[in-house]
Amino acid sequence: MCGIIGILGEKDVAPLLVEGLKRLEYRGYDSAGIATLSNGHIQRCRAKGKLANLEDKLGAQPLSGTTGIGHTRWATHGAPTEDNAHPHATEKVAVVHNGIIENYAQLKDELEKLQCRFETDTDTEVIAHLVTHYMTQGMKPQEAANAALDRLEGAFSLALIFAGEHDLLIGARQGTPLAVGYGEGEMYLASDSYALAPLTRKICFLEDGDRVKVTRDGAQIYTNDNTPVERDIRITAQSGAATGKGAYKHFMLKEIHEQPAVIGDTLNSFINPATGTIHMPDDALAALEKAPRLTMIACGTAFYACMVAKYWFEQIARLPVEIDVASEFRYREAPLPEGGVALFVSQSGETLDTLEALRYCKREGQTIMSVVNTIESTIERESDIVLHTLAGPEIGVASTKAFTTQLTTLACLALALSVRTGKVDEQQAAEMAEALRHVPAQTAAVLGDHESPVQDIARELFEAKDMLYFGRGLLYPVAMEGALKLKEISYIHAEGYAAGEMKHGPIALIDEHVPVVVIAPGNDPLFEKAASNVQETVARGGEVLLISDEVGTAQLKDHIKWHITLGDVHPFVMPILYTLPVQLLAYYIAVTKGTDVDQPRNLAKSVTVE
Ligand code: F6R
Repeated sequence: MCGIIGILGEKDVAPLLVEGLKRLEYRGYDSAGIATLSNGHIQRCRAKGKLANLEDKLGAQPLSGTTGIGHTRWATHGAPTEDNAHPHATEKVAVVHNGIIENYAQLKDELEKLQCRFETDTDTEVIAHLVTHYMTQGMKPQEAANAALDRLEGAFSLALIFAGEHDLLIGARQGTPLAVGYGEGEMYLASDSYALAPLTRKICFLEDGDRVKVTRDGAQIYTNDNTPVERDIRITAQSGAATGKGAYKHFMLKEIHEQPAVIGDTLNSFINPATGTIHMPDDALAALEKAPRLTMIACGTAFYACMVAKYWFEQIARLPVEIDVASEFRYREAPLPEGGVALFVSQSGETLDTLEALRYCKREGQTIMSVVNTIESTIERESDIVLHTLAGPEIGVASTKAFTTQLTTLACLALALSVRTGKVDEQQAAEMAEALRHVPAQTAAVLGDHESPVQDIARELFEAKDMLYFGRGLLYPVAMEGALKLKEISYIHAEGYAAGEMKHGPIALIDEHVPVVVIAPGNDPLFEKAASNVQETVARGGEVLLISDEVGTAQLKDHIKWHITLGDVHPFVMPILYTLPVQLLAYYIAVTKGTDVDQPRNLAKSVTVE
């Protein structure tokens, strides 16, 4: 994780570095820091915790200089202290780093024998000492950086500045992203185009193994064997506008409430306005039609979208689907079928495990399809076929609108495929398309009707230490998602299960101290089975929050303690609409507890290390 930025500017760069870091803070917020060249000397300002702390320090002790680098950290090696905050520096060089240097211990050992004194617990500090070591031996900055880069193992992107070198910024990309920005008399490096969007729209994305020498005149890119190489410069579609919270207390709440609009936008991008039918890109459908199997890979919430989609593709389109979390799949050496399609789902488009799983599937000859939210992301750029979710920037660390727009996109894809392959008849297809078209309005209705009652329930549940979520079929992944949302923002231990698994273990946890959330609409074909699970829970002293519809609540009202009762929902789109109450529940429990909802402890929005 971590976000990095570098600027060769015309005027003092510290304020620009801080503004860029604000747009990178989604990558980590354990500490932040900047380094600039002032009269040729490296000066640093670093602070533990969020960027606001760095801003306060800079307010008291501003840094001057037109050359600088900055960093926002998600700690890997070394606690999130000020000493461990980047940039790391010697008198000759300062460096910011995203990633992990896997052979740092060996390099540190070597450098300590050469009398280098280490001041931090980070892996990154070895880079500063290694470059310094080569410079002391007479190498010029770029040569020394190259010599050091040749020694590094792991995944990293780096930006370096050098004492006395006012017009030089060196960057390198090996596994984690780095972009070069071309300004008017200014040049930039950053982890993504979003950070640079307020400064320039002219962006070049480096490829793995690239190194770049940046001066105010431009950038020279080399491969890691020092061969000059040209990379495309493109005009970014990223908006430079700041994303604010508006009148909302948290980004997460704003993003929950954006769902009617962004689900509608995503849906409209796939609906033929003349016929009301769902249209997906022909190359996507053609690849899936021929595929003997679809492999779907993602992490976290995006993986739960794959779990839901497996039901859709298998039940409606009759296409066999394998799903896996990327961190397991990438090392499993799974055999993949000839002519197969591999589909990757990602909000950020930068999740390292997902990206490496994609590369594995590419090497194995699969057609690579992705459902991504962040435009110009690495996953998008490395895919053969891309479907965009139109969720807009998601800032809250807990994914909400990205998930429901992923579900919307995958529902459209499964439905369009079923129509193309004749697995559903015209009437069924029309009914499901209509169900999808109603989702934005139903989303608005669910949020409008239930926000206030959910707050009351949250006030009764926020002191729980553990909670269980149960669902069946399409709502099993929603139970998993509900539990994930709760644990990540409220720090309450929560587990999601397939309700049918209850008797195979989790039932042992049930007592009056463990609230149980059961997601079971009355018009779900599996309702009666879920109803039995409610009875079994209550019989053991468990208190149930039922998320259901009128039919389901009426049947179970004598047994449950709380309920959230939605209007009628077509079974096809249930996972989208039944996600909303679990999002609201997690949010209001966290708010009642007083946790940091948008930036919960230990997490980062974009997971670019494994
Ligand atoms: C949970 C959450 C994470 C992400 C996961 C994948 O709220 O946000 O579990 O879903 O890290 O991230 P992307 O979708 O960016 O690949």
